Amino acid sequence: MKALVTGAAGFIGSHVAAWLLRDGMDVVALDDLSGGARENVPAAARWTPGSVTDYALLGDLFAREKFDYVYHLAAYAAEGLSHFIRRYNYETNLMGSVNLINLSVLHHVKCFVFTSSIAVYGANQLPMTEAMTPHPEDPYGVSKYAVELDLAAARRQFGLNYIVFRPHNVYGERQNIGDKYRNVVGIFMNQILRGEPLTIFGDGEQTRAFSYIDDVAPVIARSVWNEAAYGEAFNVGGGTAVHRQRIGRDCM
Ligand SMILES: NC(=O)c1ccc[n+]([C@@H]2O[C@H](COP(=O)([O-])OP(=O)(O)OC[C@H]3O[C@@H](n4cnc5c(N)ncnc54)[C@H](O)[C@@H]3O)[C@@H](O)[C@H]2O)c1
Repeated sequence: MKALVTGAAGFIGSHVAAWLLRDGMDVVALDDLSGGARENVPAAARWTPGSVTDYALLGDLFAREKFDYVYHLAAYAAEGLSHFIRRYNYETNLMGSVNLINLSVLHHVKCFVFTSSIAVYGANQLPMTEAMTPHPEDPYGVSKYAVELDLAAARRQFGLNYIVFRPHNVYGERQNIGDKYRNVVGIFMNQILRGEPLTIFGDGEQTRAFSYIDDVAPVIARSVWNEAAYGEAFNVGGGTAVHRQRIGRDCM
């Protein structure tokens, strides 16, 4: 079996690629290195530099490789920044995904696995459960939910199987801690390494749940074997709320 993993030079994508290789899958690793690093890509994967926005490159790749599965993890995941990089957000996170969905339909991919986000839920929807109707409130969340809806349409119209995962605050080896617009564990780690105070928004009473990468990546990688999951969206990750004071203390 052969899989395309987009975003394979990034944090979660590199771990998903490693789990797929461990399970005997032939893996093609695509990434434009805008937010990842070449050395993150597992050595046994077949490295293919390129952008998910390059439809001609993707078209050649799909025609040549005949993928059984597509794991689409490439994105620029700076949610708070997405208001200020609207076009870039939609070009990368929405149109890049649509390119892959189109080609997956054309080339009869068996299942398309997409990492969405809990950003689809929007504010004040707690606890976040899959039974809720998403109300994303920023361009990043809107693009993720639009892709979820397009996958559902592609399944209804063309029978494309898919599985959506909505991770949240994943941490672990190869996490990007250099981008101050990304998740809080990376931001705190960066600030601690620089000897700077931790940035706390609002009254500091907010809580977060965190997920270790090895609890998330194998679930995503192995999901395609479970056909009962096709056409479904899943929150994936830890469910225990952690208060920011404990986060700060544990980081220290
Ligand atoms: N890390 C989290 O806690 C978290 C939470 C929710 C959702 N997600 C989603 O999971 C996926 C992976 O996130 P991550 O934390 O590993 O991020 P990451 O930035 O470490 O990895 C994303 C990778 O995508 C690549 N990329 C970006 N634009 C691209 C393009 N146009 N073409 C090809 N490659 C491109 C980047 O170079 C990077 O290597 C993303 O879709 C993200 O939205 C992550």
